Amino acid sequence: MSDGGTSRASVFERGGGRKTAEGLSYLTGFGNEHASEAVPGALPEGRNSPQRAPLGLYAEQLSGTAFTEPRAHNRRSWLYRVRPSAAHPQFTRTGNGAIRTAPFTEAVPDPNRLRWNPLPEPPAGTDFLAGLWTLGGNGDATQRTGMAVHLYHANASMERVFSDADGELLVVPERGGLLLHTEFGRLHVEPGHVALIPRGVRFRVDLLDESARGYVCENYGAPFRLPDLGPIGANGLANPRDFRAPVAAYEDVEGPVEVVNKFCGNLWTATYDHSPLDVVAWHGNHVPYTYDLRRFNVIGTISYDHPDPSVFTVLTSPSDTPGLAGVDFVVFAPRWLVGEDTFRPPYFHRNVMSEYMGLIEGAYDAKAEGFVPGGGSLHNMMSAHGPDQETFDRASAAELKPQKLDDGLAFMFETRWPVTLTPQAAGADHLQQRYDDVWRGLERHFRG
Ligand SMILES: [Fe+2]
Repeated sequence: MSDGGTSRASVFERGGGRKTAEGLSYLTGFGNEHASEAVPGALPEGRNSPQRAPLGLYAEQLSGTAFTEPRAHNRRSWLYRVRPSAAHPQFTRTGNGAIRTAPFTEAVPDPNRLRWNPLPEPPAGTDFLAGLWTLGGNGDATQRTGMAVHLYHANASMERVFSDADGELLVVPERGGLLLHTEFGRLHVEPGHVALIPRGVRFRVDLLDESARGYVCENYGAPFRLPDLGPIGANGLANPRDFRAPVAAYEDVEGPVEVVNKFCGNLWTATYDHSPLDVVAWHGNHVPYTYDLRRFNVIGTISYDHPDPSVFTVLTSPSDTPGLAGVDFVVFAPRWLVGEDTFRPPYFHRNVMSEYMGLIEGAYDAKAEGFVPGGGSLHNMMSAHGPDQETFDRASAAELKPQKLDDGLAFMFETRWPVTLTPQAAGADHLQQRYDDVWRGLERHFRG
């Protein structure tokens, strides 16, 4: 990708890798009205659609919400590009690989607590798209409700471009850095950071290491936004200014480029005669972001008990019912535990919401073993879960000094509907067979 737009052959320019990624500049602020131009004068002033856009560019609006949604929630961007997106040939069906889409009806919803080891090694030449593997989800992509849980394991950079009409993609790397080339510019993500790609935005993924592994929440519902803070006040949790948007950068590639479009659950492909990542300038609030999870301002008790994990919400996709999320993205970041007379790990509970948890690094404070980075667990609606026996015994007897939890980074996709598995997840070799045993040793202590 070139800020200056030099003409070249049909393959994407490579090289630079992590050095390029680390040298990128960004715009900051979640939900801002950002504006950026890779070439001075490319962005029109004072109007969106002038009779002739500057520099011979085409003007195009990309809507992330209906035109008529309230201003506070409206998402759209204006793109000024070498060719309009409309300049493409017909799409034809291609294989869906291991990607599946809601409604998930192939397997019976499972009330059991489930846990998986990491995905196995993929075959050589597996790019991010080919490496996507769907665990399950809920809702209906055609109704723009619900979500899907995917994992990815890739060992090659993409030579094609992808866009997802079904939802926005929250990418949570667990292993390996990524350089995302998007219509809006480039983003660098490493494990511990997340990337948010809005619905319909085209992008391709370069790997910065030999392989890359992680998680993806595909959100079919309302775009993720920052949660309201209520009595917490004007600051805290994920602070808006820590979200980074790209600056405009474009590819001036003439030649065949495969573009894959996910639409209502299927992948469709077309071979363009140019790269669609040809946006020279843009402005708006429907943009990709990255966020460093370690910047999360963790709220917790300074007296007793601990608040419900909703205080760890980074981003939320609201539903039509106030306070009820289609999906929340929640992070369990390093923090101090100081609660007096308090069982400090996550409490035992049954939840009307359904919880998929993943681990980016280290360990999670409710599970002494078995929950490993790259793996994941699913605790569906009303399934009983909580600390394992070893954690319970240790925390019940612990001296309650201030304690820093700093050896783990876990997250949760918490959703309003049960997550129904795909058959490949229900029957996976890496599905742990004896997960229930972590609670088996919880003995009777009642002295009645
Ligand atoms: Fe839970």
